[in-house]
Amino acid sequence: MKPPKNVTFFPLFFTLLVLPSLISSWKKEEFRNCEETPFCKRSRSKNPHSCTLIATDVSVENGDLVAKLVHKSGDLEKGSGNFTLKHLVVGVSVYKNGILRLKIDEGPNLGVPKKRFEVPGVVVDEFLSGKVDLRGVLEEKIGDDLEESWVFEVCDGYEGVLRRDPFEVFVREKEGKSRVLGVNSNGLFDFEHMKGEKEEGEEWGEHFRSHFDSRPYGPQSISFDVSFYGADFVYGIPEHATTLALKPTRGPGIEHSEPYRLFNLDVFEYLHESPFGLYGSIPFMMSHGKDKGSSGFFWLNAAEMQIDVLGSGWDAGSDNIAMVQSDQKRIDTLWMAEAGVVDTFFFVGPKPKDVVRQYTSVTGTAAMPQLFATAYHQCRWNYRDEEDVYHVDAKFDEHDIPYDVLWLDIEHTDGKKYFTWDKLLFPNPEEMQKKLASKGRRMVTIVDPHIKRDDSYYIHKEASQKGYYVKDASGKDFDGWCWPGSSSYIDMLSPEIRSWWGDKFSYDSYEGSTPSLYIWNDMNEPSVFNGPEVTMPRDALHYGGVEHRELHNAYGYYFHMATSDGLVKRGNGKDRPFVLSRAFFPGSQRYGAVWTGDNTADWDQLRVSIPMVLTLGLSGISFSGADIGGFFGNPEPELLVRWYQVGAYYPFFRAHAHHDTKRREPWLYGDRNTELMSDAIHIRYTLLPYFYTLFREANTSGIPVIRPLWMEFPNDEKTFGIDEAFMVGNGLLVQGIYTARAKDVSVYLPGEQLWYDLRSGTPFNGAQTHKFEVSEENIPSFQRAGTIIPRKDRYRRSSTQMEHDPFTLVIALNSSGAAEGEIYIDDGKSFEFKEGEYIHRRFTFANGKLTSSDIGHSDGKSTYSSPCTLERVILLGLSPGYKTALIEPGNKEVNIELGPLRLRGGQGAVVPTIRKPNVRMAEDWSIQIS
Ligand SMILES: *[C@@H]1O[C@H](CO)[C@@H](O)[C@H](O)[C@H]1NC(C)=O
Ligand SMILES: *[C@@H]1O[C@H](CO)[C@@H](O)[C@H](O)[C@H]1NC(C)=O
Ligand SMILES: *[C@@H]1O[C@H](CO)[C@@H](O)[C@H](O)[C@H]1NC(C)=O
Repeated sequence: MKPPKNVTFFPLFFTLLVLPSLISSWKKEEFRNCEETPFCKRSRSKNPHSCTLIATDVSVENGDLVAKLVHKSGDLEKGSGNFTLKHLVVGVSVYKNGILRLKIDEGPNLGVPKKRFEVPGVVVDEFLSGKVDLRGVLEEKIGDDLEESWVFEVCDGYEGVLRRDPFEVFVREKEGKSRVLGVNSNGLFDFEHMKGEKEEGEEWGEHFRSHFDSRPYGPQSISFDVSFYGADFVYGIPEHATTLALKPTRGPGIEHSEPYRLFNLDVFEYLHESPFGLYGSIPFMMSHGKDKGSSGFFWLNAAEMQIDVLGSGWDAGSDNIAMVQSDQKRIDTLWMAEAGVVDTFFFVGPKPKDVVRQYTSVTGTAAMPQLFATAYHQCRWNYRDEEDVYHVDAKFDEHDIPYDVLWLDIEHTDGKKYFTWDKLLFPNPEEMQKKLASKGRRMVTIVDPHIKRDDSYYIHKEASQKGYYVKDASGKDFDGWCWPGSSSYIDMLSPEIRSWWGDKFSYDSYEGSTPSLYIWNDMNEPSVFNGPEVTMPRDALHYGGVEHRELHNAYGYYFHMATSDGLVKRGNGKDRPFVLSRAFFPGSQRYGAVWTGDNTADWDQLRVSIPMVLTLGLSGISFSGADIGGFFGNPEPELLVRWYQVGAYYPFFRAHAHHDTKRREPWLYGDRNTELMSDAIHIRYTLLPYFYTLFREANTSGIPVIRPLWMEFPNDEKTFGIDEAFMVGNGLLVQGIYTARAKDVSVYLPGEQLWYDLRSGTPFNGAQTHKFEVSEENIPSFQRAGTIIPRKDRYRRSSTQMEHDPFTLVIALNSSGAAEGEIYIDDGKSFEFKEGEYIHRRFTFANGKLTSSDIGHSDGKSTYSSPCTLERVILLGLSPGYKTALIEPGNKEVNIELGPLRLRGGQGAVVPTIRKPNVRMAEDWSIQIS
């Protein structure tokens, strides 16, 4: 949702204002640019090699390399009679699988008023336990100036280097010594020491518009450059509405460009092409290049961050004598944060998937969602009352359109008091949920972090009595304006408060809730309508005296965590939670799904949704999507249809719309459009077994459900800049249609192998750009030769009702007549899969034989079983002459026939089919064709 614009305190008035004039009403002046952000301005104006820090006192302690950073000139600490050097402390550690961690914090210097904030609860324990003792630290003289350095092993093939003067940390290949990734290679490192007292004439407070930030600890920013060697492009650092490959923000020919901003904000009507900060922040960047593959860099810091991608020649004229071999191509970047410490992670790759695995080994892989959550969600602000809910539910059935979840936005509450119901509109919420649950459907209600300051509201009463609210700079409960009017915000940094919050979701506490009710966390940036930049003042205070400026970007993360943990608790730890969050931070993938916030019903926003969702996936957050149809505005029918066609492949598939838009459920645009939207939704349901298998892959490895082409084809340069087409797993390539009345579209199909059109089965050559005619019926989508994709082809009302349905396998043969694929099946809801209670099988087809074998149960079989059988095998690219199939066990022979491809919206194509093998999915079997 959005905050009102100028007219913050008059919701009725603003409702009138936002009506149809939606185009570019983004209020630029409400948000700070770099020039208006003192730390950003200071950091950006530094010259290369202005850093004069050198590493001294280097030693190995507890398996880490430790050192001090001091100014070359020997800057003495101010203060009476104390002659220790003002310094920073450096720690370099190495972890399993090629990860180097570099931490830099303030030394115990004179007058430091407090400890800097380190973000708790993001780095997972398993990662920490994988620390390896630094081995074979050698002193070496490197570079033209033979500067002293310390060299140590990072993992096979890679070593880390700490250089003394100028101070620099980088990773290089052992063989050939070419560099991979480095910090301070351009000497832009700067660390503002906190001071206890102002110097004469200094002013620490800052003004922005009508707001004043008191900044009681003065400037404390950190900035440094990071170089990605061998990189053709860099990607990552969500959330921005922009291209997948990040464009340079500084350098020759780039004027007035802003850095990419990471600051969680409730942005009203965001633009489709902007480096501006949106609802969530992940300071993780990944590079990719033809020569070296991929590497990655992550800075764990929750303060406002700004990141420049420096275009080549950015340092021209500044006599930047690169400290690196001049023959190495690289992309330089500048990272700036308002506060916190340096806590950074270097990932050596070298393949894109390796980097994602390395990054998610630090912040955790995605939680395994319940099956229903991977299906279609129907939302709008608002489904008015119970009658409306029943009506919408019945209409889906009437039109034979499946859906799994119906959502209720803020108006379902009693006066925006979360955990309550408007008694007139929703007199029987339990009965309503139970009725939907009887068709296998769930409901979701919204619960936001702003709490109405109303003494008769139990949440407010408890929170204020217990002192659980965030405090303002003067120490009183912070009081800001949000949906309920005057509101306070739960202080989610405290584990005790999070646990208290989690208890509010118990069935006893949350009246009218049932086991089929799940939760949506919105406005958790946090959004404060009358705050600076529509958020909380930076000098507000959290648990432990932490300033809001230090933890801002993680506030929504802790809220999401508390809610998700609460849902686990309410079901006695049995059921997987489902919580959607708008704000996010590294690690959010462990707590649920996110969506791209308040987009707009226009073609550009449909287009940008793909790079946005892909970027989230690269950054660990696999389970995401954009509002189908666009939140603001009324989509023309063609746009809505195209949105469903692409959105059916978003990992998180939900339609949502603003209060003031026309109703747009799939049956409201005429029969033909209903049919087209229904086809798109059906395709998602048909592919649910494939999606669920991919969600499990994300859960175990971090590899996202939908992927950029270059993740699957890392050597194919033509894919590096593509972000209109994407891969679903390794097997499907999908191209959206992003313009009205498109006649044709060019699609590059990578790799040497064929691609089979999903609906006609027609093969197309790889390593070629094809021009396809565009029909209204569907968007171009292809199965890659060499893959096997599981489907369920029967039409039901919800995913739950498909549980026992039989499977179809679509085998796309490659030039060696082979293919492979996987299926993952579990109970779809509990945590028992963590004890091995699942079916995970690999299908391989080679030499005319398809076999199914167990994977993932190395020690002992699972007791999880499923009555599901295989009802059909489709063979794409089978050479003629095959007539029969022999099925084992059972020694049963069936004919290979021509059968329909059977994908909704298809053109009635017929393909070689083995009907009714009827083997059980849970068991070993084989099918030999001849
Ligand atoms: C000098 O500063 C250091 C570090 O803060 C402190 O440990 C030491 O006691 C100080 N010495 C004097 C003489 O104040
Ligand atoms: C998978 O998801 C579950 C939560 O559903 C989580 O507990 C687990 O850590 C995740 N990762 C793996 C490898 O199972
Ligand atoms: C065909 O697919 C199989 C199974 O995925 C694979 O092992 C083989 O290398 C592929 N052949 C070619 C020519 O790509």
